[in-house]
Amino acid sequence: MKRLFAGDQLDHYQIESEVASASMSSVFRAIDLRAGKQVAIKVPSPKAECDPVFFDRFHREAEICRKLNHDSVVKVFDDHRRSRLYLVEEWVEGRLLRTILSEQARLPFDRVVRLAMEICVALDYMHSQGVVHRDLKPENIIVDSSERVKIIDFGLASITGARRLTFGKLSQIMGSPDYISPEQVRGKRGDGRSDLYALGVILYEMLTGQPPFSGSNLLALMNARVDNDPTPPREINPEISPQLQAIVCRALARDPQDRYSSAAELAWDLSHQDQVACQLDPFSQAKAKKQGGDPIERFLQFVKRFPDAFFSGAIRAKPVVEPPRQSPSRQSPSPPDYPSSSLG
Ligand SMILES: Nc1ncnc2c1ncn2[C@@H]1O[C@H](COP(=O)(O)OP(=O)(O)O)[C@@H](O)[C@H]1O
Ligand SMILES: [Mg+2]
Repeated sequence: MKRLFAGDQLDHYQIESEVASASMSSVFRAIDLRAGKQVAIKVPSPKAECDPVFFDRFHREAEICRKLNHDSVVKVFDDHRRSRLYLVEEWVEGRLLRTILSEQARLPFDRVVRLAMEICVALDYMHSQGVVHRDLKPENIIVDSSERVKIIDFGLASITGARRLTFGKLSQIMGSPDYISPEQVRGKRGDGRSDLYALGVILYEMLTGQPPFSGSNLLALMNARVDNDPTPPREINPEISPQLQAIVCRALARDPQDRYSSAAELAWDLSHQDQVACQLDPFSQAKAKKQGGDPIERFLQFVKRFPDAFFSGAIRAKPVVEPPRQSPSRQSPSPPDYPSSSLG
C-alpha cells in the first residue's frame, strides 16, 4: 500500500503529520473532515499487512479498544467503510511518560505516587473488563497537562477467554524486555498481575532514574528478572521512604502470587503509605505477606485485633483431637484460641 505523507487524504481523514514510525506501523495525526476534529491514525506497514500475526494483532487491538470505555484508556472509533486497514483513535494531547523521564530521570515522590495511582485506575478498569495490556511501558502512557494519564497501544493486549497464542507466535507478541514479567519470560501468557509487574518497573524507574535490570543482551536482560531480585531502590536513592520501597518491591515480586492481587490494592497502599509494613529485606516482604508473616508477629496482631476476647479468655481453643474424657476435678484449663483463619 502507498506510504502516507502530510496533506494526503485517506478516506475522510486528512493527514497532518507523522508522529511515530516503527517497523510494523506508523501513527499519524490527522483531521476527521466530517467531524472536524483531530484523530490519531495507526497504519500498518506494508510488511505488517502481509504478516498474518500482525494482521491479527491489528484487528485484536481495535476489538479490545472497542470493548473499553474509560477516560484513562484511548478511544478507538469504528467505521466499516475503509479503503484499507488502519485504526482511528481519539487524538491524545500530552507527553509520553518516556519523554518526561528522558528530561528528568528521577521524578519528585509526590508526582510518582500521583502518576502511579492514575495508572492503577486505568489498570483496575481494564482488568475489570477482562483485558490485560501486556505492554505497559512509558512509551505507551501519555500524560496531559493536568497530570491525567491515558494508556495507549493495545496491540499486545489480551482478553480473558480469548484463544491462546501459540509458541511460534510468542517472540513476535512478547512485551518490551525491560517491562516484561518473569512469568511472560517463562512463556506464560500472564494476567493482570503481569501489568502490575510492569507498573512496578515503571515505579522503580521513576524513583531511581534507572530500570531495575540490565543485561549485555536481550536474553540476559529478560532472564535476570527470572533469577534475581533487583537492587533495592533505597540503595540507589536513599531518600525513597522504606514504605514506598516496600510497595515497589511487592509489585516486582518474581512470583505473581507474591505481588499485589489487584491494581486497587496497590493504589490503596500508595495512598495509605503510613500503614505499609516494612522489613529489612524488602523482597522478603511480599513472601512474608503471602505466608501470613512471622508467627510471633501474627500472634501479636491477633491480640491487638481481639484484645478483649483474648484477655477475658472468651475465645477457647477447639481441640483438634477429641481429648480423653477426664473427671471434672482433674480437667486442665483450655489454652487460648488463635485460629489460623483469623491470623492470615
Ligand atoms: N491516540 C494517540 N494520540 C496521540 N499520540 C499517539 C496516539 N496513539 C499513538 N500515539 C503516538 O504514536 C506512538 C506509537 O503509537 P503506539 O500505538 O504505541 O504504536 P506502536 O505499536 O508502534 O508502539 C506513541 O508512542 C505516541 O507517541
Ligand atoms: Mg507503543
